[in-house]
Formats: sequence, C-alpha cells, structure tokens
Amino acid sequence: MTTATGSHTVLRETRWSDIPTLAELETELFGAHAWSAPSWWAALAARPRRAYVTAPVAASATASVAGAPDGVLGYAGVDRGGAVADVMTIAVAPAARGTGLGRALLHRLYELAAPASALLLEVRADNVAARALYESEGFEVLTVRRRYYGDVDALVMRRHLTDPTDSSAEQEQR
Ligand SMILES: CC(C)(COP(=O)(O)OP(=O)(O)OC[C@H]1O[C@@H](n2cnc3c(N)ncnc32)[C@H](O)[C@@H]1OP(=O)(O)O)[C@@H](O)C(=O)NCCC(=O)NCCS
Repeated sequence: MTTATGSHTVLRETRWSDIPTLAELETELFGAHAWSAPSWWAALAARPRRAYVTAPVAASATASVAGAPDGVLGYAGVDRGGAVADVMTIAVAPAARGTGLGRALLHRLYELAAPASALLLEVRADNVAARALYESEGFEVLTVRRRYYGDVDALVMRRHLTDPTDSSAEQEQR
C-alpha cells in the first residue's frame, strides 16, 4: 500500500530490496548502534507483527521496477504485538529533514499500530529534534532510564492512540 504525505512524499511498505539502502543510511545516522543488513532481514521477517514503511526518493517512487533498489528519504517501523505498540525505528535522511516527513512517518505508525491503544518509544534525552517532534505529537515521558546510553539517559515516552477520556479504552489498558 502507498500513501501520499502532506509534503507529497509517497510512503510505501518497506521492501526486501530496500535493505542495502536502509543499512547504509542507518550506519550514516546511528553509527555503532545502526541496524545491519541482517538486522533488517530479521526485522522484515517479523512481519506482520511488525510493520515497516519507507519514503522512497520521489523520482523513483513511480518508476521503480520490482526488485530494484530505490533511494530512501526516510523510514519507520512499529511492533504491534499487543494493546501497547512500540516504535522500533524512525529516521529521515539529513537532506530531507525539516519538511514534515518525520511527522508523516509517525502518523503512519499510528495507523499501523491499530488496534493498540497506546504507542511507546525510546529516545535519547539529548535528541533535541526527535524529542520536539514527539512532544508536539502529545507523547509524554513515562520512565527515565538513567545513563542508558553511557552518559546519556533514555526516555521512554507514551502517546495514547485512543481518546484518554474514553473510559472503556482506559479500562482496556489495565
Ligand atoms: C527526528 C527526525 C525523524 C525528525 O524528522 P524531520 O522530517 O526532520 O521532522 P519534521 O520535519 O516532520 O518536523 C516535525 C517536528 O519535529 C521538530 N523538529 C524537527 N527538527 C528539529 C530540530 N532540528 N530542532 C528542533 N525541533 C525539530 C519540530 O517540532 C517539528 O515541527 P515543526 O516543523 O512544526 O516545527 C529526524 O531528525 C531524524 O531522522 N533524526 C535522526 C534519527 C533519529 O534521531 N530518530 C529518532 C530516534 S528515537
């Protein structure tokens, strides 16, 4: 399935053929913590419990041949095993940042997380851009894992996906 975002970037299901590009981008973005190609193979093999979406480079989005690798502007994934879903990854290539793609990817994860009633994620406390995105989307800090990344804390954040004033949804979470 493909979806056009507000900035006209197409989001589509991540393909096996994306793996080399994703592994390369991960290394650029996350260094020692990057998902390798084998990690991506395992991640995609965990579907349908997990779901991954890719924002391909626009020019190749419509012209891509099945099996041929696309350039990638961004990607995201979610684990939707239960009442609470988890963001597994979300990233935008440096050249494509600040155009609304990160928010569009996050919105797609809300849809993919259904029927979970809440979405959890973990973020480095010093990741200013990601925290601003999550806070603007209504995520709240649930737990702080002190010095989880060496000298830097990890924040576990949560956003309700259903109306928190809906008492039936509240009861389901307990
Ligand atoms: C976090 C990330 C996904 C945001 O992607 P993006 O496409 O640039 O984000 P958007 O353009 O959709 O911006 C959405 C909001 O994020 C916040 N934001 C984005 N970049 C920011 C920055 N450099 N500084 C402060 N806030 C920022 C703003 O609140 C922005 O809303 P606004 O445009 O209305 O002000 C991107 O910076 C990224 O890939 N970082 C590296 C990977 C990473 O850290 N992933 C998250 C791991 S938990």
